Amino acid sequence: MKVFITGATGLLGNSITNELLKKGHRITALVRSRERGKTILDPRVALIEGTLEAVDQFSGSLQGFDVMIHAAAIYGEYYRNGDELALFNVNVNGTKALFEAARKNGINNIIYISSSAVLDTENIDEVDERASYSETEDPYFRSKVLSEQAVNEFAMANPSVRIITILPTVMLGPGDRGPTPTGNIILNYLKGKTRFIFPGSHRIVDVRDVAHAAVQAINTGRGGERYLIGGRKYSFSEIFKIFSNITGNPPLKKTISPGKLLMIARLVTLLHNIKGESSPLKPEIIKRLQKNFWYNSSKAEKELGVAFRSLDETLSDTMAWFKENRYA
Ligand SMILES: NC(=O)c1ccc[n+]([C@@H]2O[C@H](COP(=O)([O-])OP(=O)(O)OC[C@H]3O[C@@H](n4cnc5c(N)ncnc54)[C@H](OP(=O)(O)O)[C@@H]3O)[C@@H](O)[C@H]2O)c1
Repeated sequence: MKVFITGATGLLGNSITNELLKKGHRITALVRSRERGKTILDPRVALIEGTLEAVDQFSGSLQGFDVMIHAAAIYGEYYRNGDELALFNVNVNGTKALFEAARKNGINNIIYISSSAVLDTENIDEVDERASYSETEDPYFRSKVLSEQAVNEFAMANPSVRIITILPTVMLGPGDRGPTPTGNIILNYLKGKTRFIFPGSHRIVDVRDVAHAAVQAINTGRGGERYLIGGRKYSFSEIFKIFSNITGNPPLKKTISPGKLLMIARLVTLLHNIKGESSPLKPEIIKRLQKNFWYNSSKAEKELGVAFRSLDETLSDTMAWFKENRYA
């Protein structure tokens, strides 16, 4: 099939591109910089240079594709530069403009990458695709809610376009060039900057398992459906134990209390706000890590054949990639 993909230079898009190539699909990728695209992507991938802030400038090149996979969004970039205008412009307006351009060019199959962050987890232990939208205050999470809602409106107005929505939880794996905020937890550990085990737990999925789900969805996904790719829930003490097994470093012994971590997060956020910057340690995120919910991915397991690899494999391949690529 001829596939047009956005975000191919990012963590997930790159993994999806590798999976598509393995299956023999012909791929064209939207890249913000052709030079960067060439250094990251396989030479078999054709490139269109452009940005989601100006879809009109490349929409004429969207003819002749069987499928579009929309994996581009601003994520880690926002947590580094705090640019809310760009965040909403790209994640919400860019998505709307891209879907319109795809429809005008006859693309009737779309795989859209949303996020588990759009799902409400308040007072719920087991979260699945039926959860309502989160009323989150976090701007990135909110941009993903608004983006998914824009996609729903588009779907209502264009029932002949088959749209499948993939909702990954926090992804880790090789190819995290950003690096994403979660990739930074690993990098900080590798750089010896981590002194304490964080309290609480994280829901983690290997990016290659999400990529597999997105590519499977082209053939076996049901149009109009959402698929949660929720991975598994791990406590930070489990995660740090695996870090120490992989690196051979002595295990971290001390766990910082949730109250103390929240206090530090508030202070860090205040200092960053004064400087007009986005905080890397937001109180909302710390609070989320203390919650006990888990994601139920059984729909994706059944319909998309998703199987989750072990956390040991994910963390050890991620660490190896960071080392090979001189991030740590
Ligand atoms: N990572 C996670 O844990 C996670 C969890 C749930 C959902 N998601 C969602 O999964 C998708 C992929 O995330 P990711 O982790 O792979 O992100 P990532 O590594 O930060 O990659 C983002 C991709 O989007 C591209 N991009 C950003 N702004 C753009 C613009 N204005 N125009 C065109 N392309 C633009 C980037 O291009 P450049 O290479 O030029 O920067 C890059 O290819 C996103 O929709 C994200 O919201 C991510």
